[in-house]
Amino acid sequence: MTQANRRIYLSPPHLDGRERELLLQAYDSNWITTLGPQVDAFEQEMCRKLGVGHAAALASGTAGLHLGLLMLGVGQGDEVFCSDLTFAASANAIAYLGAAPVLIDSDRATWNMDPALLAEELDACDKKGKLPRAVIVVDLYGQCADYEPIMELCGKYDIPVLEDAAEALGATYHGTFAGKFGAMGLFSFNGNKIITTSGGGMLVSDREEYIRRARFLSTQARDASPHYQHSQIGYNYRLSNLLAALGRGQLERLDEKVEMKRAINGFYRKALGETPGIDFMPEASYGKSNRWLTVILITPEEFGRDRESVRLALEAENIESRPIWKPMHLQPVFEGCRIRGGDVSGDLFRRGLCLPSGTQMTEGDVDRVVEAIRSCRTQPSPGPRPQHRVPI
Ligand SMILES: Cc1ncc(COP(=O)(O)O)c(C=O)c1O
Repeated sequence: MTQANRRIYLSPPHLDGRERELLLQAYDSNWITTLGPQVDAFEQEMCRKLGVGHAAALASGTAGLHLGLLMLGVGQGDEVFCSDLTFAASANAIAYLGAAPVLIDSDRATWNMDPALLAEELDACDKKGKLPRAVIVVDLYGQCADYEPIMELCGKYDIPVLEDAAEALGATYHGTFAGKFGAMGLFSFNGNKIITTSGGGMLVSDREEYIRRARFLSTQARDASPHYQHSQIGYNYRLSNLLAALGRGQLERLDEKVEMKRAINGFYRKALGETPGIDFMPEASYGKSNRWLTVILITPEEFGRDRESVRLALEAENIESRPIWKPMHLQPVFEGCRIRGGDVSGDLFRRGLCLPSGTQMTEGDVDRVVEAIRSCRTQPSPGPRPQHRVPI
């Protein structure tokens, strides 16, 4: 394969020498299980970086959501509010506990949970006498939600917030890092995230009690006893010492990765910002997004082609792109969940496309993506695909 048609991926892992060094240290120490010095060090380094009191390294971000809700007392028959425009993991965790997600649409200025709709739904629930047990607020594509009004509203009704900062490590809101706004915050270190451990997550909080309990529950809720004794149901959710070593190496370069992601976003904006029918995900003035993924909106009436046809044109050039998250209210599995709003997330989904945003991308790679998008405007739409008959 030549350099010219090398596949450009959406957000592949970016490892360099340091992860290998730390991984080999963990290997050589024979600590390859779910406890060990790399896990401890990774947790401490995350606390130092974010300025948060406590952290528990976990097998995934989803595990963090599950444990977080469990510790907030969510159970059968409860309702939990959740950002509608998100990855399914945010809402799945609610269902794990037998609770019902109530979905809140995004606002256009941030694409995150709309505080005005949150206020309306809280008010309606208050009038019915059934307030939610918790609210999951997602920091979408690396941009913090608008926490001032959100925390004020939730505080008014005394409802805890679980911050799903899976995509937003390194982003800030009025100078404070994502992950620090709710009772707890969680991050994902899934392979496509800004830092990765291949798979993993972290639950953080200033309340030691939450994190102590998260560690306990994530190690099968084993009582302090020489034999295996259990008085509660536990989970096998801890992060391996080997993977924590990877995470430590990645974390050392977080600031650099944020700047690289932002630079890639800047290149795209400069090249495509004036193109009719193309808009970028806005960056709210209250914070700094980590620009985990660069996301554009394609308006077919102005651009001449719709989002799906642009995605296929990129694919034909060996460039990976993806429609933005399909909102939860449009997911068959969450059919029937209550939704406040829904028009904004639905519209963003129809028009939104995530562009390659890996930190290893060169300017040449970004140019290739830009050219492929530009040429969509001038080429006729591919039309329906030819039907190939399958011989019977
Ligand atoms: C918004 C959001 N929440 C939760 C998760 C779940 O994290 P994980 O894949 O580590 O379980 C992800 C990503 O994967 C995500 O994007």
